Amino acid sequence: MKNIKTTKRLITSALPYVNNIPHLGNLIQMLSADVFARFCRSRGYETMYVCGTDEYGTATETKALQDKKTPRELCDYYYEIHKDIYNWFNIAFDKFGRTSNEECTEITQSIFNDLDKNGFIKEHTSQQLFCPKCNMFLADRYVDGTCPKCGADDARGDQCDTCGTLLDPTQLIAPRCHTCGSTPEVRETKHLYIDLPSIAPKLEEWMKETSEKGKWAANAIQMTKAWIRDGLNERAITRDLKWGIPVPKAGYENKVFYVWFNAPIGYMSITKQLEDELKSSGKKSFDWKKWWLPSEAEEKFSEKDANIELFQFIGKDNIPFHTVVFPCSEIGTGKDYTKLYHMSSTEFLNYESGKFSKSKGTGVFGSDAKESGIPSDGWRFYIYYNRPENQDYQFTWKDFQEKYNKELIGNLGNLVNRTLLFINKNYGGKIPEGKKDEALWAQIEEKEKKATELLEWAEIKDALHTIMEISDIANKAFQAAEPWKTIKTDKAVSDNILYNLAYVIKDLMILLEPYLPTYTQIVAGYLGKKIYSSTFAEPGDETALKWEDLGKLEGLDSISETSVYFTPLDNKSVDAFRAKFAGKQDEKPAAKKENKKKAKKEEPKPALSAEEQIEFFNKNIELRVAKIIDVKPNPEGEKLYIETLDDGSGTPRTIQSGLRMYLKESDLLGKNVVIAANLAPRKMRGVESYGMLLAGDYKDKDGKDCVEVLDVSWAEPGTKVVLEGADENAAKKAEITGDEFFSVAINAVNGSVEIAGKKLLALGKEIKTVNAVNSEIG
Ligand code: 2FM
Ligand code: ZN
Repeated sequence: MKNIKTTKRLITSALPYVNNIPHLGNLIQMLSADVFARFCRSRGYETMYVCGTDEYGTATETKALQDKKTPRELCDYYYEIHKDIYNWFNIAFDKFGRTSNEECTEITQSIFNDLDKNGFIKEHTSQQLFCPKCNMFLADRYVDGTCPKCGADDARGDQCDTCGTLLDPTQLIAPRCHTCGSTPEVRETKHLYIDLPSIAPKLEEWMKETSEKGKWAANAIQMTKAWIRDGLNERAITRDLKWGIPVPKAGYENKVFYVWFNAPIGYMSITKQLEDELKSSGKKSFDWKKWWLPSEAEEKFSEKDANIELFQFIGKDNIPFHTVVFPCSEIGTGKDYTKLYHMSSTEFLNYESGKFSKSKGTGVFGSDAKESGIPSDGWRFYIYYNRPENQDYQFTWKDFQEKYNKELIGNLGNLVNRTLLFINKNYGGKIPEGKKDEALWAQIEEKEKKATELLEWAEIKDALHTIMEISDIANKAFQAAEPWKTIKTDKAVSDNILYNLAYVIKDLMILLEPYLPTYTQIVAGYLGKKIYSSTFAEPGDETALKWEDLGKLEGLDSISETSVYFTPLDNKSVDAFRAKFAGKQDEKPAAKKENKKKAKKEEPKPALSAEEQIEFFNKNIELRVAKIIDVKPNPEGEKLYIETLDDGSGTPRTIQSGLRMYLKESDLLGKNVVIAANLAPRKMRGVESYGMLLAGDYKDKDGKDCVEVLDVSWAEPGTKVVLEGADENAAKKAEITGDEFFSVAINAVNGSVEIAGKKLLALGKEIKTVNAVNSEIG
């Protein structure tokens, strides 16, 4: 068992990008860290939970341009929105700060200087477009021009939205600076790199020890090992932008640090922000280094052997930045910064049958939850009860309704209501005298012990399920004692069960305060009590009930009048929510990308419903297995491969695909893939293409865009690919247009390739993706 006095808990949750409104999936990290922080405080650990908005980088600059705001104005605006949402969800940060503050600049520069001094910063030169008028290098999406492929005059440096081609800015015909319209020139530019390979041996040693000692989540161990095994590369830590932290080195006056270099340092700087804020308002403050760099802190923890455990809560897409890049930045300074102890990295929460998407209006966002009329504790309960710990989880309204009505209300709400009402009605609100029911408490204490052990390691979901088992045990005990009968026939039995259950409810409120901070205080209030809750700036009431009060049958007397807090969700409201958050069904990004130019001119066609898509696919679209027997680059098109395929017909087929940026020839050669076989041929860069390879996209561990081609190694060339339940031999239309093909949305959903919920099969076997687990297939 930990020494609660000497162990300190430093807690962070991933800093959300400022320019997005967080959805339920994004909220998981903050909510998880909140449960853990509340638990630690109640348990008696000295605790510090920091989070804040991640504000620098290209995405913010671009969004600011779009919204006609300065980056600062944009960040100020969104920061308040984020804060409001987290406030509504009752997240008790010690500080919710921002990365665009002077504290972050100071600490980032100091860490950089130490890395540089120790020889871990390298310089490399590359070619980039430079705008002489704006006097700056242009990020890819800051260049406009004419698409070399389709001639559209509004292509961007990274992509042409009209024909979908991915571009390098130097390929644009008549390139223009996005900001001022002048013609940029190609210039050499230098960037700074962190030398991860040289820090790797120390990182590896640290990782081996900490991942075991700190019981990292399995996905974090796996991913980090893979990174180290594949060999670490030097990583660029500077960018040609304005909105960022200045690089304190001669020759880098016009550059800033890459947002991912300074973002994790944000955790430290937000702690310092709290220190500075408290100081300037004359409140009791502290030294931030006491948490992050204790060896250099002026103020130390009162215990000599204080042990700081850093618990970090993130989504799986952020793992390598927290287990490799950030620890390397810390190790490379040669100073003893507090490093990650326990990594709690969750999988993704998806929405209904797809993903959350702000642009499509699909899914529940923080601001929607706020306006739903469902109390924040109801949302919290659902998210914790289903926290995606070992695999992705699907939010569905049906599931939400079920867990809300059956577990939260049917189990917990029911116990609280029936017990307290019974005491109010039959005992005039006075809790009857009784004696401890040893058998009942033995079961409860065992569960309490288990929940505590689980929470010690931030096993949030399992702990909640264990706590809900206590409620279930108590409900059964109420049922078995039949107080509504025994109050007349054998009053001692009735007295006893209500006496014991009042204390079980008191325990449940202590156990559940981290999860349901509003509800538990209300119920504790009925019992004339408060549950301990605090933050650094607002210390809690020391007389309130804490974790150490679990299992104590003392101190309760009477009950005040109660009312029902959670009301069941009926079908009608659930249907209305589902419809409200379903998004604009006519947005089909796969089709949109290819057909944007046409869409501009033509009236958009109404989108097909799920059934119509299935029917249209079965009648018209022919998918087949084909083997790639040759791959060569198209010399006229920098992105294009010309592939020769065996499609089972006996005549080789030629297809072109824009995969050169993503895959090597050897990645494709010999593969059995799925092709759209009856697409009308089209000429690309002088070569006719007969069909299309099906693939999905995803981001790799570096956040780089990647493509995965559907793999059907088990099926021979020529095998038909069909939807489950469809006839393999059905005749299809001889030829279809691109528009027709894209009128059906093929998606990977949790790794299963499907159309409107029906799976695609080859020889009866499901087609799966490995990396592009949730993506549009096209
Ligand atoms: O992925 C994201 O949303 C990032 N803004 C997370 C940053 S976490 C940390 F390192 F700051
Ligand atoms: Zn310019």
